[in-house]
Amino acid sequence: MTDTRTTPNLLAPATVGGLRLANRLVMAPMTRNRATAEGVPTALMATYYAQRATAGLIVAEATTPNAVGRTYPNTTGVHDSAQVAGWRRVTQAVRAAGGGPMFLQIQHGGRVGHPDTSGHTPLAPSPIALPELLHTPAGKRPAPVPREMTPHDIGATVADFAAAARNAVAAGFDGVEVHSANGYLLHQFLSPNTNHRTDAWGGGVANRIRFTVAVTEAVAAAIGPRRTGLRISPGRAVNGIDEGDDTGALYPALVSALAGHGLAYLHVGFAEPGSAVYRDIREQWPGALIANPLLPADRLPADGGRHAAELLLAAGADLIALGRPFLANPDLVARLRTGAPVNPVRDRYLMYVGGATGYTDYPFHPPVA
Ligand SMILES: Cc1cc2nc3c(=O)[nH]c(=O)nc-3n(C[C@H](O)[C@H](O)[C@H](O)COP(=O)(O)O)c2cc1C
Repeated sequence: MTDTRTTPNLLAPATVGGLRLANRLVMAPMTRNRATAEGVPTALMATYYAQRATAGLIVAEATTPNAVGRTYPNTTGVHDSAQVAGWRRVTQAVRAAGGGPMFLQIQHGGRVGHPDTSGHTPLAPSPIALPELLHTPAGKRPAPVPREMTPHDIGATVADFAAAARNAVAAGFDGVEVHSANGYLLHQFLSPNTNHRTDAWGGGVANRIRFTVAVTEAVAAAIGPRRTGLRISPGRAVNGIDEGDDTGALYPALVSALAGHGLAYLHVGFAEPGSAVYRDIREQWPGALIANPLLPADRLPADGGRHAAELLLAAGADLIALGRPFLANPDLVARLRTGAPVNPVRDRYLMYVGGATGYTDYPFHPPVA
């Protein structure tokens, strides 16, 4: 059989969940720690996102659905009215700047959390501490042993995700991205080294995917499947995650459990176009697939990630998420269109602290007078 599929152009429009995107470039979710101590998005954040309004889709940073799910200092929440009002200011600024659709990533940190930051002992599938130091308001501290979630905690957390999704829509977002990647709570349920449960939420692959499926279904029921995306990072050893030999079984099971739900998209972090897991996911997922290429960790490629993006489009991705290229280039889309050089990330430290410095002061090309 001849493959009649043609590779879409990175800058060509797309439709996702019925929403029209001006191009196929997605600003990947990035935690920037510029919210208030209470997790309220600020005016500075509205400026930052509005500067990046030409992205086809913005996925705004990891945002907690409840107090205990908070990860690091000055991260955002979407579980109280001040936080919702702060986010509304952000979505209005992006819209006023001519921006397209915007999703909010909902993240529960699970064991990646500290009482000095959240005010609570963290909750996780099993009482196994993150084997790393954690940023707290008083500096880096050992991660505490989390409390094992009871079935009641599990039900309440699922409900908090659904409520957070409704709040996000009330704040002007077009949808939400459920965060099941990078070693946070949902990933902790998926992975055998962080989930030692012996009830229906642990054990074999079929049980370990249940929490991600339950959260995604609850969010889809709350705001509609076409407003619901899901992010995964298969095999990614981050935040102490070790999927062992399970990656090849876990993700096909998870993807096929959700394939018939009509979700807006599946977002694969750190995707490698030639890998078996990526190919299997593309084959199994009938809807829009966002792929986030694996770029060098220490520097941005001179082309801003364009070549890596095009390889993934050729390997079947519908949309390409870029993180640091958007962080350092508010006008990334124009730069990729014209071939203008990209700004490098100036100072890695300023990714997570620093107010306007290293945040809203990256220059446009040519510099705005
Ligand atoms: C400063 C920073 C913050 C990040 N925060 C998040 C986050 O909140 N949620 C998430 O899923 N990934 C997060 N990531 C990962 C990015 O979404 C992306 O997967 C990663 O940076 C690789 O893409 P890149 O090479 O284009 O930057 C973050 C990355 C960076 C650099």
